[in-house]
Amino acid sequence: MYSRTNPYQALIKERRLLTAPSSTKKTYHLSIDISGSNIDFQVGDSIGVLPTNHPQTVEQIIQKLDSTGDEEIFCQRTHATYSFRNFLLHRANIGRVSFHKLFDVEKTSLPLLDLVQHHKPHPSELCKILLPLMPRFYSIASSRKMFPDEIHLTVAHVSYLINGQMAHGVGSHFLCEQAMVESTPIPIYVQPSNHFSLPSDPSSPIILIGPGTGIAPFRAFIQERLATKAEGLNWIFFGERNRATDFYYGDYWLDLEKQGRIRLDLAFSRDQEEKKYVQHKMLEQKKSLWDWIQKGALIYICGDAQKMAKDVDAALQQIVHLEGNMNEEDARKFIKQLRLEKRILLDVY
Ligand SMILES: Cc1cc2nc3c(=O)[nH]c(=O)nc-3n(C[C@H](O)[C@H](O)[C@H](O)COP(=O)(O)OP(=O)(O)OC[C@H]3O[C@@H](n4cnc5c(N)ncnc54)[C@H](O)[C@@H]3O)c2cc1C
Ligand SMILES: NC(=O)c1ccc[n+]([C@@H]2O[C@H](COP(=O)([O-])OP(=O)(O)OC[C@H]3O[C@@H](n4cnc5c(N)ncnc54)[C@H](OP(=O)(O)O)[C@@H]3O)[C@@H](O)[C@H]2O)c1
Repeated sequence: MYSRTNPYQALIKERRLLTAPSSTKKTYHLSIDISGSNIDFQVGDSIGVLPTNHPQTVEQIIQKLDSTGDEEIFCQRTHATYSFRNFLLHRANIGRVSFHKLFDVEKTSLPLLDLVQHHKPHPSELCKILLPLMPRFYSIASSRKMFPDEIHLTVAHVSYLINGQMAHGVGSHFLCEQAMVESTPIPIYVQPSNHFSLPSDPSSPIILIGPGTGIAPFRAFIQERLATKAEGLNWIFFGERNRATDFYYGDYWLDLEKQGRIRLDLAFSRDQEEKKYVQHKMLEQKKSLWDWIQKGALIYICGDAQKMAKDVDAALQQIVHLEGNMNEEDARKFIKQLRLEKRILLDVY
């Protein structure tokens, strides 16, 4: 089957902004065409994408080295030969470069463009010290039962300023802006998740906590539960910056809420003076959450690993402590036990 070394070359069927043009961020919905590929996946899985580096940056490197880009590069890792240009576009991490006293440079890590500005290594020497371009992972945001020929993704376009200049994340920029809809091949493969999946008992209640792009796998979960007519209750906690501009799949969630298919709690952090996050909504609903936990609910957390996941975990402990009449130590042990029993499941990055 398809893998990192043998990816499927898919096309983007559709790409649209989920955020309003006036938003402070850009997040896209993508539909990847997998018709005829026999790609198999489960909800909860991700796909690995092998991105292409920004062509402009590659041309800058080639120019600064006074090279043509056509020099032959033999890659020790793949045992294949590439043109210098193709090696830089598809194989190399051209962000930062780590090296050991090569080119008489003291520092061991430097942006590549800065390095080639001051030193002019031969393309083959340069390629020897470049790290490989790594795949990027994106949660699958659709169920095969609803979209058999497509894989949906929810991708935040990573943008930031470096020395006053706009820079973008390699993988997210490739998917969100660089790749052309219906024409640029997107090398993909399925990265199975061996734990982040729906409960085997369709009547188990599920609590889905997914701020930002963390909502992606939960769109797949809900589609699957609807398609299989699973009778278990579904509760979603979603958060983003502003409701008017960043409510990803807002109409879909509101419609399902109206039909009584999901319970929905929303935390728009920047719509008021004080920050409001998903864990604040959870604490507001602590009685009901404790009730669901006692009824055997599974709790899924997806999104930011740095802060959100830890804060949500702390909120869960607080809820168990307050509603379960346990001291803090027992509440901590209770949560640990839920994790061991795989009733708290994480997919954070
Ligand atoms: C299992 C899994 C599932 C995932 N699912 C999704 C998903 O559904 N949707 C999604 O959007 N992402 C998802 N991700 C994250 C995704 O894989 C990428 O990490 C993300 O898109 C960023 O990659 P990039 O190549 O665009 O950025 P990169 O090129 O990797 O750039 C990121 C780097 O840019 C620099 N940087 C970033 N911001 C700043 C800043 N403000 N200032 C200075 N430097 C900065 C940092 O050096 C950082 O390491 C998932 C990750 C995993 C592991
Ligand atoms: N470039 C950046 O500046 C930046 C910043 C964050 C994340 N990222 C990266 O961008 C990618 C996509 O991020 P994303 O779009 O999914 O969303 P996100 O930036 O993680 O934000 C989603 C929501 O979570 C809120 N949030 C912030 N801290 C939180 C916490 N401790 N607990 C709970 N919620 C919290 C945010 O509020 P506020 O933003 O209002 O605080 C926002 O409302 C990820 O890979 C992430 O690592 C980039």
